[in-house]
Amino acid sequence: MTDETPDAHPLVMTPQDFSAANDWPGYFGAVLGKPPRDTLLAALAAFEHEGVAAGLAVDLAAGEGRDTLALLERGWRVVATDAEPAAFEYLWPRVPAAAHDRLTATVARFDDTALPPCDLVNASFALPFCAPQYLPALWARIVAAIRPGGRFAGQFFGDRDSWASRADRTHHTHDDVLALLAGFDIEMLRVEERDDPPDVREPKHWHLFHVVARKR
Ligand SMILES: C[S@@+](CC[C@H](N)C(=O)[O-])C[C@H]1O[C@@H](n2cnc3c(N)ncnc32)[C@H](O)[C@@H]1O
Repeated sequence: MTDETPDAHPLVMTPQDFSAANDWPGYFGAVLGKPPRDTLLAALAAFEHEGVAAGLAVDLAAGEGRDTLALLERGWRVVATDAEPAAFEYLWPRVPAAAHDRLTATVARFDDTALPPCDLVNASFALPFCAPQYLPALWARIVAAIRPGGRFAGQFFGDRDSWASRADRTHHTHDDVLALLAGFDIEMLRVEERDDPPDVREPKHWHLFHVVARKR
């Protein structure tokens, strides 16, 4: 289950409400201190299972840094990107001093994000917020950046999600996701589909794909 609608109450703004409004500073405050995403943890477990040492990860649209902090904690070097400068105001104070030299935090939009060659691209709840016209080029840069044997971890939103009608969001069918992952061995492709309880402010239908994939 995603944690975007925890402890719903019609008067309480949830992360879902902030992301619906593209209010990213509000979102960062609402999710501050939450644990790393399951897709990231699964990718890291797969590297550890292979005996692969911590390498370089790009945390795309890293937000306030829940995943970046987990990567740094495990010895990874991280390039964290986000369009919203406030993301890094939340992140930097929580980075241990000993890890500062392993983090590069860059303000960049999806359409102008440069990705260095890396072992992992982590895109937790990120790509759905890329406008559709920029997604193909961004995905091409993601695939090109990941070394063979490296991994992609993250979420896509599905075509049956309530937000699929929004012009500023990118949604995919199951077949679309399979096509994007054509050059990868899929290690996780978990479909989450559910309705919000009726007592949240703006109940929606969620349709998500949780993905971990290893580049061939
Ligand atoms: C739902 S949050 C996810 C943040 C974090 N990865 C996580 O798992 O909590 C979406 C993120 O996308 C970022 N974002 C929104 N539009 C963007 C754009 N055009 N380019 C880059 N980042 C963007 C937001 O600032 C926000 O940090």
